[in-house]
Amino acid sequence: MKQNIYDNELFFENYKALREDPINYNELLEQPEIRRMLPDLKSKHVLDIGCGMGDLARYCAEQGAAGVTALDPSSRMLQEAENRNNHPVVEYIQTALEDAVFEKQSYDIAVSSLVMHYVADYDAVIRSIHAALKEDGILLFSTEHPIVTARKEGDKWITDEDGNRIHFAVDNYQEQGRRDVKWYVDGVVYYHRSISALCNGLIRNGFSLEEITEPMPSEAAIAQLPRIEHELRRPSFIILKARKTAHP
Ligand SMILES: C[S@@+](CC[C@H](N)C(=O)[O-])C[C@H]1O[C@@H](n2cnc3c(N)ncnc32)[C@H](O)[C@@H]1O
Repeated sequence: MKQNIYDNELFFENYKALREDPINYNELLEQPEIRRMLPDLKSKHVLDIGCGMGDLARYCAEQGAAGVTALDPSSRMLQEAENRNNHPVVEYIQTALEDAVFEKQSYDIAVSSLVMHYVADYDAVIRSIHAALKEDGILLFSTEHPIVTARKEGDKWITDEDGNRIHFAVDNYQEQGRRDVKWYVDGVVYYHRSISALCNGLIRNGFSLEEITEPMPSEAAIAQLPRIEHELRRPSFIILKARKTAHP
């Protein structure tokens, strides 16, 4: 079942405040890397899956994309996107990825930033994106790193009595599937997938892998947000770039 937690008022207000402060993990860690991994966007048709408040969609437009179709199920997120990131070549559409009906072979690039861990049926959406991409099209997405989503219960960072982080606990790694977590509110639903599950879902559905990264903070990022240094001990995000090569 799909959850639309970003339309929960309390969740949304907290998330918006997080993103409005530019000193955050998205801006310092994930966005620079996913933008680096994007192919040349000039005159390309881009699909932005789970566009949220539209920053990446507008970035794609400003890089010269001919069109950006940006979808998201959350009306609150899309309202922010329309207000902040309106652009003549960006079209915002309210839908979950699972419900979207795409014209076949209509996009050069599908990009998705930190959305895939909300999707229950990974194979189904990868097949749908594959059909929507033109031949040789690129799928580039970031997701919560499996070592972060794995553990079902208990604190992930194990600390000493002074709160210092001793080590990070990974457990239940091979148990794929649903996780119910607290993030601003109780009952936020994630789906854990191991690294092999993420990669094999692409490979068996007609993609070949081009690059995988686990973003690391720069020295400048650590200077701005010292706790981001813990990313050097374990990554929060993984980014996969794949090319459409075959009919699944
Ligand atoms: C962490 S936010 C990222 C937003 C945006 N991609 C960015 O990087 O700023 C996750 C977004 O995924 C959207 N989302 C959640 N489930 C989704 C689904 N099934 N299909 C498409 N988008 C979804 C949420 O509404 C939210 O806007």
